[in-house]
Amino acid sequence: MKVINSVAEMQQFAREHRGEIALVPTMGYLHEGHASLMVEARKRARIVVASIFVNPTQFGVNEDLDSYPRDLERDTRVASEAGVDIIFAPTAAEMYPSGYQTYVNVEELTTHLCGASRPGHFRGVTTVVSKLFNIVMPRVAIFGKKDFQQLAVIKRMAKDLNMDVEIVGMPIVREHDGLALSSRNVRLDTTQRRSALSLSRSLRVAKEALRGGEQSVAALKKAVAEVIEAEPMAEIDYLEFRDPDTLLELEQADERTLLALAVRIGSVRLIDNCILGEE
Ligand code: PAJ
Repeated sequence: MKVINSVAEMQQFAREHRGEIALVPTMGYLHEGHASLMVEARKRARIVVASIFVNPTQFGVNEDLDSYPRDLERDTRVASEAGVDIIFAPTAAEMYPSGYQTYVNVEELTTHLCGASRPGHFRGVTTVVSKLFNIVMPRVAIFGKKDFQQLAVIKRMAKDLNMDVEIVGMPIVREHDGLALSSRNVRLDTTQRRSALSLSRSLRVAKEALRGGEQSVAALKKAVAEVIEAEPMAEIDYLEFRDPDTLLELEQADERTLLALAVRIGSVRLIDNCILGEE
């Protein structure tokens, strides 16, 4: 496995291997969720590139850019074991040199959910993902459904801007006790980690309620909120039942409905989601 830091070098390699590359964009501190995307990438292309870049433009001023966990040495090991051929790990100065002023924005879809609580976040995501597509020139790019809205926004962007790349979404990887893997989980202490289990537990409660015949979004919201609010440390940022394609609000839920959650546990903001009728 090779580590490339320079945009020019990455782009030169990509030019020579156009049509053969699968890309897995990440911000590093890799876990089994990231590894599952790399394993899928391995099946879909001859060359697997994983990018590791904590993208400053997708963090708000009061967010955790500085405290975001980083460990390139360990990441190199995880990526190599998952079958990655090249790690592309540029510096912020390499990606956003002085004078930088171009951004990509997906409009309607980014006004909901995480876009509403994190203004500017998706503009940073779509900008860096566009740059990565231009630098790595992948035939296919793999993303996790853990960030459900991010996946929807990137699919929209690729379609709207006629980007010649297939966008693939992969299932959420969880710990045995249900907690969705996240690089931010390392910042939870033991008590907070226990509180964090309320996210996945509340998804199960919603699925069971729907299976039991409850379709009213108001009633389902109440049942889900009760599970989370029973945890003294957990504070709901949003709890929404939405159409999985448009992300628009619903009054009645069914098997296709997306339940998306963002919850603050102390200073750590966690997200989770499910499609009510799945698994
Ligand atoms: P990051 O949070 O590092 O996530 C990288 C990819 O891993 C995303 O597609 C995310 O959905 C996926 N992922 C994270 N946790 C997962 C889990 N438990 N199961 C399955 N997939 C999981 O998302 C980003 O970075 C950035 O916004 C990025 C797209 C790289 C742009 O900067």
